[in-house]
Amino acid sequence: MTPSYLQPAALCAGVDTRAQFNKPIIGLTYALALCGLTLSSMVNAKTVQVSSPDTHIYISLTDDSGHPEYHIQFNGKTVINPSKLGLVFAQLGELGSEFTIKNVTRNSVDQTWQQPWGERENVRDHYNRIVATLSNGKLDFDIEFKAFNDGIGFRYVVPKQAGLTSTPKLDITDELTEFVIPNPQQTTAWWIPGRGWNRYEYLYRTTTLDKIDRAHTPMTFRTADGVHMSIHEAALTDYAAMVLNQGRDGTLRADLTPWSDGIRVKTQPGFSSPWRTIQIANDAPGLLNSDLILNLNEPNKLGDVSWVQPGKYVGIWWGMHLNENTWGSGPKHGATTSETKRYMDFAAQYGFDGVLVEGWNEGWDGSWFHNGDVFSFTQAYPDFDMEAISQYGKSKNVRLIGHHETSGSVTNYRNQMSDAYDLYKKHGVTQIKTGYVADGGDIKRIDENGITRHEWHDGQFMVNEYLHSVTEAAKRGISINTHEPIKDTGLRRTYPNWIAREGARGQEFNAWGSPPNTPEHTAILPYTRMLAGPMDFTPGIFNLAPEGLEAINRVNTTLTKQLALYVVLYSPIQMAADLPRNYVQRLDAFQFIQDVPTDWNDSIALAGDIGDYVAFARKQRDAEDWYLGALTDEKPRKISIKLDFLTPGKQYQAQIYRDGEKADWLSNPYDYVIETQTVTATDSLTLSLAPSGGTAIRFKAL
Ligand code: NOJ
Ligand code: CA
Repeated sequence: MTPSYLQPAALCAGVDTRAQFNKPIIGLTYALALCGLTLSSMVNAKTVQVSSPDTHIYISLTDDSGHPEYHIQFNGKTVINPSKLGLVFAQLGELGSEFTIKNVTRNSVDQTWQQPWGERENVRDHYNRIVATLSNGKLDFDIEFKAFNDGIGFRYVVPKQAGLTSTPKLDITDELTEFVIPNPQQTTAWWIPGRGWNRYEYLYRTTTLDKIDRAHTPMTFRTADGVHMSIHEAALTDYAAMVLNQGRDGTLRADLTPWSDGIRVKTQPGFSSPWRTIQIANDAPGLLNSDLILNLNEPNKLGDVSWVQPGKYVGIWWGMHLNENTWGSGPKHGATTSETKRYMDFAAQYGFDGVLVEGWNEGWDGSWFHNGDVFSFTQAYPDFDMEAISQYGKSKNVRLIGHHETSGSVTNYRNQMSDAYDLYKKHGVTQIKTGYVADGGDIKRIDENGITRHEWHDGQFMVNEYLHSVTEAAKRGISINTHEPIKDTGLRRTYPNWIAREGARGQEFNAWGSPPNTPEHTAILPYTRMLAGPMDFTPGIFNLAPEGLEAINRVNTTLTKQLALYVVLYSPIQMAADLPRNYVQRLDAFQFIQDVPTDWNDSIALAGDIGDYVAFARKQRDAEDWYLGALTDEKPRKISIKLDFLTPGKQYQAQIYRDGEKADWLSNPYDYVIETQTVTATDSLTLSLAPSGGTAIRFKAL
């Protein structure tokens, strides 16, 4: 027998919610208190429903089984089986079991907001919402659902209330949220292991869903019916990150990363959890064309952020990863005044905004990965003159980009943070790359009693610490690009100076060859890590195999796939990561890196399949040009792309950078062709991608 809550119930005196909420209401919010509450077969049990504005997604929430459970249908089929909800507190026990729905409010919103920078300028925020208040007679808490056309979000809200006056501090010891996926043996999942030693820097696993033990989010999967879904979270502040832990096959449980003392979240009455999110789409590009995560974040809290500048940079960086230079002092020291000036000359000549310099400050000598305590963030090595460099940069209209590697010694960093940020501000630095290399669980902090504690990168302590650096930097007009970060959950909307982060395997792994990123890696990233937000991947390596094609430490792509990455892997800041000498040898291909912008008016995922290929078109902000990036995994592929994204009636010169006929990442990665063609919106292009190849196109408006 189908339980009552699985049946679309009639709401509001016989009006079906799905019809009722189908009407877009532009810029208007309306509330219908107590509407949508139905009594089910169990005495006093209640079920509430909400559907997406287009009615394809249908959520029901019930207290039928003695605890709150939700269930999701997409196009009439179950995509999330009944799944438990609730929170457990040290002081209160469980908020969930024995609680019943006592009240429901609902509203709908359809509004558009602007991003100061981003994949698109205008973002439509269109959803139906319900807030269910659950009570056990002594305590109340809310579960809030938003249903969008591209997925859903829900969160817990524990308001201040009379029953909590004697418990000013609340410790969450468990979150009971489940995501129960039907047919896990027939569902394909793309995931990285949750809470491991290497943080988020893993190659993705492609398995049936039942093979997951513990996975970080975004965790993306495709059902046997071809529905594409991704579980993540939005607006992670003052809470622990959610890792997914599989118990029974198909049952993924929220597993909050604990503090060193085992408590998951330290909070107080009057808190909201982050949003638990599920993106749902008919196909793989549908996941990419979603703004769900941003829409579930709060608007900009920083006011005027015109000082947050997207742009492109080069840097004293790849040479260290190739062992040509060192971060520490000595004959191979990379961060010298003269080398920085040389990079500034190169940046000025080829139109880059900034030069990143790593290894300029005291503390890199010795085993820096294991001893962040000795880093000074204000004392430069004697061969690095920050004043002279910033003056030189000013004369060339190029900025120094700051760097702070903490090696996970966050108390040492925190103690110097004001002085360090003030110093950079004084020298006109507007962007700092931070780093938190340390094994998972080995962030070191000194607590209030002077005791060293070891924390996870994604526990509540670090969630707050990362944001603290961003808000401190904002006070000085500085943007932050975090490496070894907490995963992105869309906070760039609220804090637009959190300009990028790493949080996955980037280009650096190709220098180390430990092992290098596989050809499919960048065909998986868009559908997983990139759903969370911009990544500082650092594309653009032209010398793909400095130690020869047979070496393990080499880039597993063709040259034009490196160009395609600038369009495919969105970031408002993009590095041209290779050494200048490798660019001047191939100035024809380097032209694309000089031309490609990093700020967009619109972005459209045109085609793709997870782990196989992807094609994006993006329109330059405040300009008429479009850009296209397409890439494939190890398989060669032909993809036909309709150019109907171009402005109708307009002519464009397509400047095409593509794999040559004999290109192959393994044996012949430098075979490329650059050609031009005049096109309009009624044309199509067939892109031929070599094994691990790619195409990059600038559509220059004529
Ligand atoms: C790891 C970062 O990802 C990399 O970009 C940086 O060069 C090193 N840490 C040193 O900070
Ligand atoms: Ca890293």
